[in-house]
Amino acid sequence: GAPGWTARTDTVVIGSGIAGLVAAMRATRHGRVLLVTKALLDAGSTRWAQGGIAAALAPEDSPEEHLADTLTAGAGLCDAEAVRTLVTEGPDAVRRLIALGAHFDLAADGTVSLTREGGHHRRRIAHAGGDATGAEISRALLAALKQAEGVEVIEHALVLDLLTEGGRAAGVTLHVMGEGSRDGVGAVRAHSVVLATGGLGQVFSATTNPAVSTGDGVALALRAGAEVADLEFVQFHPTVMWLGEGATGQQPLISEAVRGEGAHLVDASGTRFMLGRHELAELAPRDVVAKGIMNRMRETGEPHMLLDGRHLGARFWESRFPTILASCREHGIDPVVQPVPVVPAAHYASGGVRTDGYGRTSIPGLYACGEVACTGVHGANRLASNSLLEGLVFAERIGEALAGDPVATGTPATARPRRRGLLDPSVRGEVQRVMSGHCGVLRSAEGLAEARRLLAELGGRTCDDPCLEAWEATNLHTVATAVVAAAERRGETRGSHWREDFPDRDDARWLGRLNGRLAEGGF
Ligand code: SIN
Repeated sequence: GAPGWTARTDTVVIGSGIAGLVAAMRATRHGRVLLVTKALLDAGSTRWAQGGIAAALAPEDSPEEHLADTLTAGAGLCDAEAVRTLVTEGPDAVRRLIALGAHFDLAADGTVSLTREGGHHRRRIAHAGGDATGAEISRALLAALKQAEGVEVIEHALVLDLLTEGGRAAGVTLHVMGEGSRDGVGAVRAHSVVLATGGLGQVFSATTNPAVSTGDGVALALRAGAEVADLEFVQFHPTVMWLGEGATGQQPLISEAVRGEGAHLVDASGTRFMLGRHELAELAPRDVVAKGIMNRMRETGEPHMLLDGRHLGARFWESRFPTILASCREHGIDPVVQPVPVVPAAHYASGGVRTDGYGRTSIPGLYACGEVACTGVHGANRLASNSLLEGLVFAERIGEALAGDPVATGTPATARPRRRGLLDPSVRGEVQRVMSGHCGVLRSAEGLAEARRLLAELGGRTCDDPCLEAWEATNLHTVATAVVAAAERRGETRGSHWREDFPDRDDARWLGRLNGRLAEGGF
């Protein structure tokens, strides 16, 4: 329906993880900022990040080496310039985060303590609270936000659609739940719009992502006709606690840092099956380890593999991984005395809304940063702990780019008529089943065609009530359809996209990214 309320600002930032918070604070240099978030300020993925934030901080490390590891993990699809920006600006960006009040764990000599994760040839991962890095970054940024002048916050605000004017972004429509005078559907007029809505893990039935990660930013961008890219590259985290057959929703993550500190992956017979599969064994890039686990599960018929960290000892578990230890024990597993059952689960969207090196999308005035964006730094498979860094570095750069945006005038119009109807909230669970069943770790033309057919059927299950759940179901369906289309098109195996029917990487045909737009019929 027509907006019930309207507001004006200079920059509207959607999302309150590391990317949204940094972008919002930077944007205050260029005017008023409205920060909107779908639930509470700290409900997104940032606070769940365990392992840490990667940056070449050690004296023996260099941005060049971080670049090389990132390009290798990305399996030929990284944008090398974007990676160079990430790794060269990364160390100072982390130092600014420390100066702002984030407390990272320190080594005995007082320098930042650094660990290893998959794909890194050096100790390069700064962490906080042992395994609660995201929670500490979120705490520090929210404390800084409180002190910042010029940022207004609206919680419980779901973004609906982009408003445009003469082809430029001109604001967004929002559905706000229970916020006094701004309750219900409203329109925010702004000359710059920053998407920092996070990931889309909820497209799958088992994921490390919180319930709010429903791909809202990618869905909005698709409806607005913005270019998206690399959507087929959904990364599956190799070690998520196995909670039994058919477990759904957010699953407990067992950080790669546990392997980084020496835990082994074994099958039921105790064999370290990653030895011989990759020179880095358990610390191979994430896609390699996820595939290793899936292959071993198929070879042995076992429903999960085991992560054995008993030799790390009780004292080490308690000081280094307090969050994971508590979470395992809550689920009746004590990693000090028994191996933890693990399986891969959906973790991170390496692709998203295509941007340049300053977060600019294909629609002028529309920016994206953090997981929703495809800056090109991840290619076909993100390197561990590069995500918090990407959110930080590119949000700062958006702060610079905003200076060039012209001030909008007049009344904005909606970009294009909204889709016919919203989908019924029950579609959410169906989409998750379809995606986990046919577009998960291992894919094939047949399975993907079935997914396409089932999703098309679900697209007819509309509802009349424009509630939050209906919007989320609609967004999940839109995003799932685009992921399947991209996965169907890429007839090769590369990075986290694994095709049973095309088991090899095919550089002659596929060494490029798949860009698409809903408006052009691409997706
Ligand atoms: C982890 O702690 O294993 C997650 C790190 C990441 O996703 O980069």
